[in-house]
Order: sequence, then C-alpha cells, then structure tokens
Amino acid sequence: MANKPLFITDTILRDAHQSQAATRMRVEDMLPACKLLDSIGYWSLECWGGATFDSCMRFLNEDPWERLRLLKKAMPNTKLQMLLRGQNILGYKHYADDVVDAFCRLSIKNGINVVRIFDALNDTRNMQQAMKSVKKYGGVCEAAISYTVSPVHSEEYFVNLAMKLEEMGADVICIKDMANLLLPMDAFSLVKKLKEKVRVPIHLHTHNTTGTGDMTNLMASQAGVDIVDCALSPLGNGTANPATEALVATLKGTDRDTGLDLNKLSEAAAHFRGVANKLKEQGILDPKVLSVDTNTLLYQVPGGMLSNLISQLKQANAEDKYYQVLEEVPRVRKDFGYPPLVTPTSQIVGSQAVLNVISGERYKMITKESKGLLRGEYGQVPGEVNEDVRKKAIGNDEVITCRPADLLKPELEKYKEESKDLAKCEEDVLSFALFPQVATKFLEQRNNPQPKETTTTVSNTDASGVRTLIVEDITE
Ligand code: CO
Repeated sequence: MANKPLFITDTILRDAHQSQAATRMRVEDMLPACKLLDSIGYWSLECWGGATFDSCMRFLNEDPWERLRLLKKAMPNTKLQMLLRGQNILGYKHYADDVVDAFCRLSIKNGINVVRIFDALNDTRNMQQAMKSVKKYGGVCEAAISYTVSPVHSEEYFVNLAMKLEEMGADVICIKDMANLLLPMDAFSLVKKLKEKVRVPIHLHTHNTTGTGDMTNLMASQAGVDIVDCALSPLGNGTANPATEALVATLKGTDRDTGLDLNKLSEAAAHFRGVANKLKEQGILDPKVLSVDTNTLLYQVPGGMLSNLISQLKQANAEDKYYQVLEEVPRVRKDFGYPPLVTPTSQIVGSQAVLNVISGERYKMITKESKGLLRGEYGQVPGEVNEDVRKKAIGNDEVITCRPADLLKPELEKYKEESKDLAKCEEDVLSFALFPQVATKFLEQRNNPQPKETTTTVSNTDASGVRTLIVEDITE
C-alpha cells in the first residue's frame, strides 16, 4: 500500500448542516464558496439528498432541483454526491419501481454523479431498483451497509453483505456508521476484511457524536480504506462528521497523504464559519450538538434520536422518564429483530419505546409504523422478532415476505395526474410524489409568488399524539 493517497468526500453541503443545523443551509450560503470547493480536489462533495430535499421545500422555500442545477454549474470539476434511502427515495415509505427509476434518472440528469444508496434494514431487495437505475443512467453506484451493533450484526454479517452488494453491481461500498458506533479497532478489522473480500473501493462514513470519529477514520486509513467522509471544521465534529482539516493534517507526509492543501481548506472554512455563526444567531444551530455524547456508546442510540426522544417526552410532560425510555429502546429493538437505528427505523423504535414507558404498559399502544415494521412492510428485519409482540400488533394478519415493492403497482402516472395543475416539469411531479402536502404548498407559492409567505409548515403529529418523522431529528 505504498503511497496510496486517502481520498476525501466533504459533507459540508449536506450531512454537516443536516446533523448540526437541522438541514437549514441555503443555497445562497453555499454558492460563494463553490469555486473554491471545486478546486480543492475532493473525491466528491456530498451536497444533495438525505433530508435536504424535504427541508428545501418545507422550510427554505427553495426548489431542490434548482439547487442541484446551481451547484452543478458552480462545481463542474468535482463529483457531486447524494444520499438516497433506497426504495424510500428521499421520503419515509416505499415507492413503486417506476418512481424510483424516474428519480434516479432526473437526479443524474440534473447534476448528481455519485448516488449512495442505503436501506435501514440492510434488506438488499430494497436497494436493487435504485442500484439498477443509477447504473443504467451512468451514475456511480455506491451501495451502503448500515452499520450497527447487535447480537446478529457480526463482522462476518457485514462482509457477506458487502460481497452481495458488489455482486449486485455496486461500484463502491460504503460503511455507513450514522450513529458513530463503529469503534476504531473494529473499523481497522472490518476494513481489512473488506479489502480482502471486496474488489471495489471502500468508503467510510462516520460521525463524531461519541468522540471516536477521528480515531475511527485514522484506523480505517491505516487498514487501507479508500475514501472517508469529513466535514469542514465550522460544521464538522459533534453530531456531524469528523473535521476535514484535522485528518488532512494528520496524514500529511505519510503514505496516506490526502494531497489536499490546508490553506485552501482554511479559506473555505472561513466562509462556512460565517454561515455557522449566522445559523447560531438564528437559534438553528444549538452548540449542544458539539458536545461528546457517550450515552450513545452505552445505549447504542444515535445522537439524532436522543434529541427526538427528549422532545417527545417534553410534549407528554414526562421528561423525568428519559432514562427509562433509554433503557426501553434496546428492548423494543430486540423485540423488532434488531433493526439498525437509522431513518426511519430510529423513529419507529424510539416512538414505540416512548409509548411503552408513558402508557405504563408495554405495547398497550402500538404505532402504525411499528405495526408496519412487524408486518414486514419495510422488508426483512435482521434478526428474529418477538412473536408475542407481533401477535399483539397485527393479530393474525399475514406477514409480507416478498420484496415489499413487488406489491406496489406503477405510480408515476397517478402522481402526474394528481399534480397536473401544479407541476411544470417532471421534476415537479417527483417533488409532489415524495412530499404531496409540502410540495403542493411550495409549488403553489412558486407558481404564484405571495411576498409574505416564506415558509410552509405541515404537522407531523400522528393519531396517538406522538411526533414521528421530523426532519430535524433524522439520523443518517
Ligand atoms: Co451521516
């Protein structure tokens, strides 16, 4: 492995502000730095997908597709990367294959080069259509393994999963450690094994929530990982990805030297420090996201989920039950067959744990999403589910064992018809397909601008009164 540079993906335009500032960075705050970012020599810049699509329309009155075109124009020399939730696209439920295919086609057409595809349960059947479509339209297909820790998630499990994804056509394999649970020594061992068994490049994505992210990146680099994710320091670290500059400086002059220029990184960081300060003044960036949270190491609950649990308990006037809920989360996760805790399973397990504690009886109330997970609507869970709990949730209903999207008829024509008065192009139809309520408000406002209205707000409270899927609390 002599003099093999470590490649860097910078997440400053997506995961960094999604993790630290509720996905509220505006395109105007990105564009002034784009020329510089484009000249740095990153392997890619992650700038789209995840929660940015929803946030653009819901909070920023921005067209996500227009954002992508502007970014592509401003950064023609660097691969632009996005995060896609497999069959969930950028939403929270399964879409039919024709919608997944159209979304991949238009993402690539509008400027995306690398599509990172994951499934919350690591059910590869939920990734198959997106992988096929990304390859068909000429994108780089980066398939992710959602990393987690549980009795069923051994190193062997992840290596086998990576081999399967390579067989399915992945151009790159990502270890997606959204919760920062991958400890440095385990990262070393896992990357070594993957480098033995998989031919395509390995890309590591971790966070610094528990304070181990820098060490994890360093150990992975020593084990031969090809690419790692970092975020420029003004929005790096804490719940976001480890800071770019620190790793670049650490590896300077070694056989994994990234070749990136610290002066240029520093100049880019100066711009984003201004953006971060503005977000702090607006109260969007709470400095608490920067403190190391070792609860994650103890309870294996991702950082984004902790804040969600606190806000749900506040709503129920039950903040004193926080530690009871933290202890209930692993029990619910076990009952549900050890799903990795990532969007949307983190919210499903978290909300159910809250209900189990505040209602005073486990599974006295069961959310619609918990029932769906136990019925197999999200795909195959990694372990065995607790059959008593399943019976309580869905009675004698049949459990879905096929690929869930096989049960969905083509949907694109239906969305075209429903949005025909609002949509001016195919991209608008997809915005509508993913977020019907939010996109309707956004497109109405865009088509007939009303000077006063700048944001659209849609309720996220479900029938049981518990907030479920909220853009601020997403973990990915
Ligand atoms: Co992430």
